[in-house]
Amino acid sequence: MSMHTFAGWTRAFEAEVGRRSARGEPDWAGGARLAGPLARSLQRFQVGEDGDGANLIRKADEAGDPEYAAAVRLFVAEEQNHARLLALLLGAGGMPTIAAHWSDSAFVRLRRLLGLRLELLVLMIAEVVALRYYRAVAEGTEDPLVSEVAARILADERRHVPFHCLRLREALGALPGALRVLVLAGWRLLLLGATAVVVWDHGPALRHLGVRRGRFTADVMRSSVDVVADILGTRSLQPSDVAPAVPRDRATVPPGRAA
Ligand SMILES: [Fe+2]
Ligand SMILES: [Fe+2]
Repeated sequence: MSMHTFAGWTRAFEAEVGRRSARGEPDWAGGARLAGPLARSLQRFQVGEDGDGANLIRKADEAGDPEYAAAVRLFVAEEQNHARLLALLLGAGGMPTIAAHWSDSAFVRLRRLLGLRLELLVLMIAEVVALRYYRAVAEGTEDPLVSEVAARILADERRHVPFHCLRLREALGALPGALRVLVLAGWRLLLLGATAVVVWDHGPALRHLGVRRGRFTADVMRSSVDVVADILGTRSLQPSDVAPAVPRDRATVPPGRAA
């Protein structure tokens, strides 16, 4: 399956739909134990996953590449499935979803103002942060259902990053080289700012998961180097390169963390 064309991506997204239905649903009935800080954090990510797909689909349609527009629909469906999984996980833990959160409202408003190219760069910030976040949840929780749901979402997010990279490589390829480098340097600066907001807003959950804010930020910024290299075409990124799982190391979890 070629990931160098959007037709290839459409087939990859469709194959994933098949794998997902063959695998079935997580065992929701088993319930989940959700610590307070993690529940509040997951509620905010749930709102974010619900996102603004219609807006992205409209811009993709306007861009006039039917293969890309078809792949984007499947991408949006996958993000909506994340929102669904997180809503069911919260429910399994006896927690409601929330209707809105300021961080998501600001994000959606910003994205609406932008053209497809800039919207994808802003969306990519969310994807790169989400990679590190779901990895932290998958590896840091004691609860098997929480870990399974986070690992499922993480596997999808690892494909989303090279998917957006392909479009951005094409879309930014029209710019002069120096401007492209400048845009991507600006993108990394925005990513750093967004990560600072996330580690502040989700600080209690990250503490609970045993991930230091500095570690989280450093990992996000390191993975952004590969994203920039892929968009510039200097090195091509595979889903398997994105946020590789590290072995679970309980020794790094502070002993006094909240239950
Ligand atoms: Fe997602
Ligand atoms: Fe994603």
